[in-house]
Amino acid sequence: MNSIFWINFSYIIAAVLFALGLKMMGAPASARKGNALSAIAMLIAVIATLLTQGLSYHWIILGVVIGSVLGTMAARMVAMTAMPEMVALLNGSGGLASLLVGWIAYDMEPGAPLFTTISVYLSVLIGGVTFTGSVVAWGKLSEKISSKPFLYKGQKIVNSLIVAAILLLGLLYCLDPVAQYSAFLMIILLSLILGVLAVIPIGGADMPVVISLLNSYSGLAACAAGFVIQNNILIVAGALVGASGIILTQIMCKAMNRSLANVLFSGFGSVTQQQSSAGAQGEVRSLSVEDAFYLLEAAQSVVFVPGYGLAVAQAQHVVQELAQILERNGAEVRFAIHPVAGRMPGHMNVLLAEANVPYDQLFEMDAINPLMESIDVAVVIGANDVVNPAARNTKDSPIYGMPIINVDKAKTVIVLKRSMATGFAGIQNELFFYENTRMLFGDAKATIQTLIAEFKN
Ligand code: TAP
Repeated sequence: MNSIFWINFSYIIAAVLFALGLKMMGAPASARKGNALSAIAMLIAVIATLLTQGLSYHWIILGVVIGSVLGTMAARMVAMTAMPEMVALLNGSGGLASLLVGWIAYDMEPGAPLFTTISVYLSVLIGGVTFTGSVVAWGKLSEKISSKPFLYKGQKIVNSLIVAAILLLGLLYCLDPVAQYSAFLMIILLSLILGVLAVIPIGGADMPVVISLLNSYSGLAACAAGFVIQNNILIVAGALVGASGIILTQIMCKAMNRSLANVLFSGFGSVTQQQSSAGAQGEVRSLSVEDAFYLLEAAQSVVFVPGYGLAVAQAQHVVQELAQILERNGAEVRFAIHPVAGRMPGHMNVLLAEANVPYDQLFEMDAINPLMESIDVAVVIGANDVVNPAARNTKDSPIYGMPIINVDKAKTVIVLKRSMATGFAGIQNELFFYENTRMLFGDAKATIQTLIAEFKN
């Protein structure tokens, strides 16, 4: 048996481990092990690839050194709250790599068979869109450029014309790749422009969906690059990334009750949303930290519902401390996690895991909602849209139909936020006007610290 057999055999093992790793990442309790398994799979794939004959090792070593230095620096320097930006840049790098692989493959063999020519075309097209699209997503998330949707008249027509030009040039190039170098270069240029134009009309708050979509694109581009250089594991790994990115995108859209087309083309957030005030009027009842303490002290069951404000306040450690105090006080404590709470997929899971909240206290929306009526106190920490009953009750609300955590069904709701300001969707929250709701105004971390002090006294 020759070395090609063993390389492909290692690739099969790596592919199986990738799939198992992905499956394990689906649940918080097994996610770390899934990550480790996927890392081992990647190591096997890299070692097997390095055994391929005819490689120029000095270039590879140079790439490994530069990549390792940059990767280590980025991983050490980036703040936990800046993870979505980091992911955007990593996606962009994947896209750029696929573009370069396609471009070099064309330069080395312009007259390749049709199948390779089509793969080169897809690799530069998807890679180019992913690269510049991800850079714009990074700019919007980090507020280096305005996070507002950038809309202008005729935008869709311009984008459609560019797509049509890329398709036409692609046809010319695939029919006669040797003679069509300038068409090939135009495809690269237009793909890079398309990436920018496709992402600028999307608002900063929709960037998590865009990033997961671009993540999927970077996988598809890698898959196409795999066909170009005929590397089986790149094809499999690229396809896995492509498929999982699409599934994640769908999960997010479903959790917001919005279609992907609405996210990509509606310019959501460009104008202040019309406030549907049907239920959002009346008296708002606030309470003091001392009153909140009495309520929590007497509660037998408490559910914490974290949202974006928890991340802003960095209140994950203090809320874990409060949860422990309540448990010692005899209450049953749970954390309810909405799939799109926060600003990136799994945002709340990551923060609560960082604070060592036990996995068995984490409840998904569908698991917690049937229990809500039996809960004494639901404490909403910097969450807004994901607990707004308008999603159930108010037909003309922009979030109507979005599944929410039904905190309003609990006996008492305490909402921790700084003001009556709206959340991401820009609409007032009916919950704040309900009879069983009490507002506890202030920064979430400071408020919880004062509550803890009350318990300790
Ligand atoms: P939001 O609706 O955005 O509300 C966050 C709330 O946190 C605000 O009302 C804000 O009120 C409060 N807040 C901010 N800083 C605070 C602090 N230091 N202390 C206390 N409160 C603070 O958040 P959510 O409920 O998590 O909903 C997420 C939204 O993002 C949804 O509309 C969802 O559709 C959207 N979205 C999420 C994702 C993903 S993947 N997570 C993707 C796309 C869209 P104050 O300013 O009054 O304090």
